[in-house]
Amino acid sequence: MSVLNGKKVLLGISGGIAAYKTASLVRLFIKAGAHVQVIMTPASKDFVTPLTLSTLSKNPVHSSFYYEEDQNAQWNNHVELALWADLMVIAPATANTLSKMVSGTCDNLLLATYLSAKCTVYFAPAMDLDMYKHPSTLANFLSLETFGNVIIPAENGELASGLSGEGRMAEPENILIFLEKDIQSKLPLRGKKILITAGPTYEAIDPVRFIGNHSSGKMGYDIANEAANLGASVILVSGPTHCKITNSSIELISVTSAEEMYDACHAVFDSVDVAIAAAAVADYKPKTVATQKIKKSTDDFTIQLEKTKDILFSLGQIKKNQLLIGFALETENEIENAKLKIQKKNLDLIVLNSLQDEGAGFKKETNKVTFIDKNFFLEPMDLKPKEAVATDILNKVIAHFYE
Ligand code: CTP
Repeated sequence: MSVLNGKKVLLGISGGIAAYKTASLVRLFIKAGAHVQVIMTPASKDFVTPLTLSTLSKNPVHSSFYYEEDQNAQWNNHVELALWADLMVIAPATANTLSKMVSGTCDNLLLATYLSAKCTVYFAPAMDLDMYKHPSTLANFLSLETFGNVIIPAENGELASGLSGEGRMAEPENILIFLEKDIQSKLPLRGKKILITAGPTYEAIDPVRFIGNHSSGKMGYDIANEAANLGASVILVSGPTHCKITNSSIELISVTSAEEMYDACHAVFDSVDVAIAAAAVADYKPKTVATQKIKKSTDDFTIQLEKTKDILFSLGQIKKNQLLIGFALETENEIENAKLKIQKKNLDLIVLNSLQDEGAGFKKETNKVTFIDKNFFLEPMDLKPKEAVATDILNKVIAHFYE
């Protein structure tokens, strides 16, 4: 899956002959799963039509400060456009547009949006070979790089002038490869290996029955998917669930019982940087498992249970530099119980769910958690979708490595 999947790409097109290639570029972005909006300078419309680009991007194309149908009534909000974008790509970037970007000139919508952009701005220069080598152009490239913008270098080849040399806009396929590599290299969890447990465990009573719980696995899967999107290499040890991984780079180890989950976690724990235990592991299992289906012969029936191994506790015992994060699901004395768990299981952070909070817990799309770190610093969070809780948890992981 492309790192551009789900990303919001703002494509700015300035007036050079290479503008005709942006139709292919938009198609490649859409194929990669990106959402695309296009801004054109007035001059670029001589080289490619807005209709082509709006059809391919599935969005209206922006070009002037006002919507043309009703010039007085509707302002085209360049600030909103700029803030919408996860990345802005200016391709082709002509010598004229580059120079205006450096000086802060703001005489068209593309430039106004550029000045409002907070995301990374990439620019793919396109011009004749002598223009490309001119000291003023080179100085502009340097200035833009000091602004934090990223150059997608021009390629060598035949130019519109008939001359041959450096200055051709990078081919759309190469622009895509460049962007994917650059984004990958800057992902905050790149190089980190994360073990995540998810879902319930099933403890067999006989060949057809088990003791389980209502965990859907959603919280653990959301953390796993988001961690992989942030560049981590993820090992997801999962009990039985209907959840799906959405990032194919995740290594999924499917298990059924607490014992299997314990073994799978211990097999990899040494090699990971972070472990997040989101699974609802059964605390007890039948002491013996009947080899044949148990018949209903008596009026009452007792199953003797014994404790399962506490996976998180055991990881806390052997941890070296790993960041260890656990969950606590409590119904009373929440904070005190969670603090005890931090100490008992040797955790760096606990994510506390209180069943007293509406919208928190099993089989819900939302969660309301409180973070408590090993110094007992408390951070209550708002009720939010589990995906957003996953993001909050991974922000804690990122902060651990970079702050
Ligand atoms: N956990 C685990 N292995 C177990 C039980 C729990 O790894 N056998 C992990 C869970 O994944 C969770 C944390 O421990 O991250 C807390 O689980 P919880 O059931 O809330 O706490 P327990 O320690 O089991 O204590 P109690 O049930 O008494 O509250």
